[in-house]
Amino acid sequence: MTNPKLQVLIPAEKIHSRIRELGEQISSDYPTGNLNMVCILKGAAYFMADLSRAMRREVFIDFMGISSYGKGKRSSGEVKVTKDLDFSLEGASVLIVEDIVDSGVTLNYLMNLLEQRRPDSIRIAALLDKPERRLRPVHVHYVGFQIPDRFVVGYGLDYAEKYRNLDDICMLDGPSE
Ligand code: IMP
Ligand code: MG
Repeated sequence: MTNPKLQVLIPAEKIHSRIRELGEQISSDYPTGNLNMVCILKGAAYFMADLSRAMRREVFIDFMGISSYGKGKRSSGEVKVTKDLDFSLEGASVLIVEDIVDSGVTLNYLMNLLEQRRPDSIRIAALLDKPERRLRPVHVHYVGFQIPDRFVVGYGLDYAEKYRNLDDICMLDGPSE
């Protein structure tokens, strides 16, 4: 795909080698017990597929739909569950798998929501982190890459539902709203 508006920020090979490292690290942090990986749809679908296969242990996978964005480049600030989990989290070790932490509004809301379900522990793995933009506190245990305050697409991330299937993570030019 050639598109003059797109500029590669993180090439596919770098994404895959970083995910292999994260898989090793997370596997050794959870040597025993069940581990439920919870993918936040749709952006984290590609990360979930690769991270779960980079794990050196058994895992359960589940999916949750959350919307906070609408069609723009900035969060609407309003978080809504559009698809709930299939499994109970009671007593479970939970790893939330998210594409990117931006304002932190989505993950802050989600942590509060999932903590009410009495898991044994919850950690977050986010492929990307834009620390400059944080409005709400979120502790992210596993971060793939810290990136500058630029809007990115590809490897699951979208702009108005486009560009998710790009191999690389790319910066998208254009107006910021
Ligand atoms: P937050 O609630 O502001 O932290 O936003 C988190 C969600 O916004 C992520 O799960 C993404 O779906 C979306 N998002 C934030 N930044 C970007 C970006 O640069 N590109 C695409 N989606 C983004
Ligand atoms: Mg998301």
